[in-house]
Amino acid sequence: MNNIYTGFAMNEAINYLLNRNSMKMVTSPAPSDKDLALILQAAMSAPDHGALRPWRFKIIRGEAIKKFADFSIGLRQASNEPFNPDKEAATRQWLAEVPLIIAVACHIDYSNTKISESERMLATGAAVTNILNAAHMLGYGAFWSTGIATYIDEFQTGLGFDALDYRFMGFLAIGTPKMPVPQKERLSYEFFTEEWTGPISENN
Ligand SMILES: Cc1cc2nc3c(=O)[nH]c(=O)nc-3n(C[C@H](O)[C@H](O)[C@H](O)COP(=O)(O)O)c2cc1C
Repeated sequence: MNNIYTGFAMNEAINYLLNRNSMKMVTSPAPSDKDLALILQAAMSAPDHGALRPWRFKIIRGEAIKKFADFSIGLRQASNEPFNPDKEAATRQWLAEVPLIIAVACHIDYSNTKISESERMLATGAAVTNILNAAHMLGYGAFWSTGIATYIDEFQTGLGFDALDYRFMGFLAIGTPKMPVPQKERLSYEFFTEEWTGPISENN
């Protein structure tokens, strides 16, 4: 078979895919620069109609994590759906340990009228999935969140994603798992899949 992988590596890769689980509780160390480059490069092989490469990422680490926490929680507390004190404290505690955040947006390139916005969002989501899988394969924990202030416009603007040109899609927390990553039992694909053998009419 003409494949760059050996049989062993192929099995290992599929095992990694089958066993990915999100991990919210992460701490230092963050991915090394070399691993972060691999993780971000994995996004570049996402399926992408029209080769628009609509995904955009902001890397947030070091001192900027505290600024991210203050900014997002501040906006949330000033909104009409503030966190209660326990949730606010838990969110602060969580972010204080996260060593790397990748904020995600989909760029709306208005010069292209052929590829719909939903297809661009799907490509960006696929890029994020590649990131989550790459982080997992390299031994890191990763978690996609649309929490805190994701749906507050000033938040995306403050992250550098002007609402006219970008759809903000939340942020990823990536780091070293604080505890063994809980393994979920996954449902069988069979519940979600059936054979199609021809057009379905209302009479059959
Ligand atoms: C677009 C998107 C946004 C999400 N936002 C949140 C969130 O804000 N809070 C949360 O608890 N889980 C959120 N999740 C779910 C978690 O990232 C994770 O997928 C979920 O806990 C299930 O774990 P699993 O990925 O191991 O199946 C989000 C998932 C997606 C795809």
